[in-house]
Amino acid sequence: MASYNIIEHQYDTVIVGAGGAGLRATLGMAEKGLKTACISKVFPTRSHTVAAQGGISAALGNAGEDDWRWHMYDTVKGSDWLGDQDAIEYMCREAIPAILELEQYGVPFSRTEDGKIYQRAFGGMTTNFGEGIAQRTCAAADVTGHAILHTLYQQSLKHKAEFFVEYIVLDLIMENGECKGVLAWCLDDGTLHLFRAHMTVLATGGYGRCFFSCTSAHTVTGDGNAMVLRAGLALQDMEFIQFHPTGIYGAGCLITEGVRGEGGYLTNSEGERFMERYAPNAKDLASRDVVSRAITMEIREGRGVGENKDHAYLHIEHLDPEIIKERLPGISETARIFAGVDVTKDPIPILPTVHYNMGGIPTNYKAEVVTLDDEGNPETVVPGLMAIGEAACVSVHGANRLGSNSLLDLVVFGRAAAIRCAEIIVPRTPHLPLKEDACDIALNRFDNIRHSQEGTQKTADIRLAMQQTMQTHASVFRTGEVLQQGIAELKMVRELFNNVQVSDSSLIWNTDLVETLELDNLLAQATVTIASAANRTESRGGHSREDYPERDDSNWLEHTLVWLEGDDVSIDYRPVHMHTLTNDVESIPPKTRVY
Ligand code: FUM
Repeated sequence: MASYNIIEHQYDTVIVGAGGAGLRATLGMAEKGLKTACISKVFPTRSHTVAAQGGISAALGNAGEDDWRWHMYDTVKGSDWLGDQDAIEYMCREAIPAILELEQYGVPFSRTEDGKIYQRAFGGMTTNFGEGIAQRTCAAADVTGHAILHTLYQQSLKHKAEFFVEYIVLDLIMENGECKGVLAWCLDDGTLHLFRAHMTVLATGGYGRCFFSCTSAHTVTGDGNAMVLRAGLALQDMEFIQFHPTGIYGAGCLITEGVRGEGGYLTNSEGERFMERYAPNAKDLASRDVVSRAITMEIREGRGVGENKDHAYLHIEHLDPEIIKERLPGISETARIFAGVDVTKDPIPILPTVHYNMGGIPTNYKAEVVTLDDEGNPETVVPGLMAIGEAACVSVHGANRLGSNSLLDLVVFGRAAAIRCAEIIVPRTPHLPLKEDACDIALNRFDNIRHSQEGTQKTADIRLAMQQTMQTHASVFRTGEVLQQGIAELKMVRELFNNVQVSDSSLIWNTDLVETLELDNLLAQATVTIASAANRTESRGGHSREDYPERDDSNWLEHTLVWLEGDDVSIDYRPVHMHTLTNDVESIPPKTRVY
């Protein structure tokens, strides 16, 4: 191994990732007087939260009566009962103060005539336990993520949080089962840095880039999830992948569900509004798993649109152009650039596209990472480690996330992490020395990949093979046979990675090396995702098995825990929390979903 000069930093808390969750945690911790660092591989306002469009849910009741208990009911039902009800109660109650705080921090929300935060309808959001349609999604036009991200970054700077930008975190530093910080590589000058922290918070986002067609940025490679696997800890519910019904055909870019919330609708090649057949009540505002399956069925049955009959149309040309200009300016531009469509005149060609990972690092509602210990307790807290946002599996989304509950999850659990850290960390507590070889495992992996000039396989080729395998074998509909073929193909792809070539070993802005490290992370997550999907022999939420079409609560009302050691996957389970957090609301028992 090459010898590296490692620069050491000491903080109370270190947050890895500067998306919505990372920045909300960073701001909250700095505000509470903790010495806080945020490490990000991209400039904070380029984090993928910037692409979130339609809005953030909270039962504010600005557009009609609303109640956080109704929001909780919808979220449990949307999760197909795999969500933890204590965490869901926490999220839906805390949504209201968390969003009013955002408003006070300066998020430029759209406004109603009487000056309140504008709220629109989103799929699966109802009033009175499923009776009516709720307008619960708070929006800043169709650029809500952008508005939130910029505000949180400004506020974090105001509170003197320190940012380490364009630093790639290589691995967690673990000692005796406790997280002591992270090792990172600075792209700008090639230096390596050890960040010591009493709490390391992973806010590293999802891993959409395992798939060929996704709404995620190229940077969405789930680096924190892979670090957790390498630390010998489990990930949870990785089989649950959300396809957003309306990615632009061919390009994959998101067209917000807010379009349907504003009155948009889908049609097939016969001009039929087919959602009326699949979801007679909710129609185009059914939850995403339902709409994605309906589009896929229409295409399979020969009613797709276009030359190859392989997509569907999303219409808003019937809406008032002034409303489109005011509420949907972002998607109008995206549709023009990526589909060549003027949305005031023509429908947008769309196709279900990978959008969100329900699974991730298991945590409790205080954002603490939990693990199944040797005594069989699945709620044991891993000291020094938290996870928030899409990287985490709290689990508030269970088997399927409702639209606009993601920005909410980021903000509520970023805030929860700050509240918990302020409770358990005394600011400026000194750090105990680490063992001499504390960084060796992380350095070895880095060094091996960095010095692979002799390899013959290009990173981009291996990545494409992985993405095509996942797109074909872990898609909207799955069968045991197709998943097993995917597992075999993925094994061959991983073998190619053993012979990967990084063309040079430079440490300054070596993007080939960055992408290869990211690919290593993606391959680990693809492996545990497809293995978990093959293992779960039922259909629930985003996991739809044609060979097991029913939800099976007697055998599968449980979270999957999955570990990866070398190439070996092992699986165990963790009970779903059917209990609520307080006596203010009763547990919601599993029912058949009616759409
Ligand atoms: O459709 C959208 O605007 C996406 C929102 C979300 O995923 O929550």
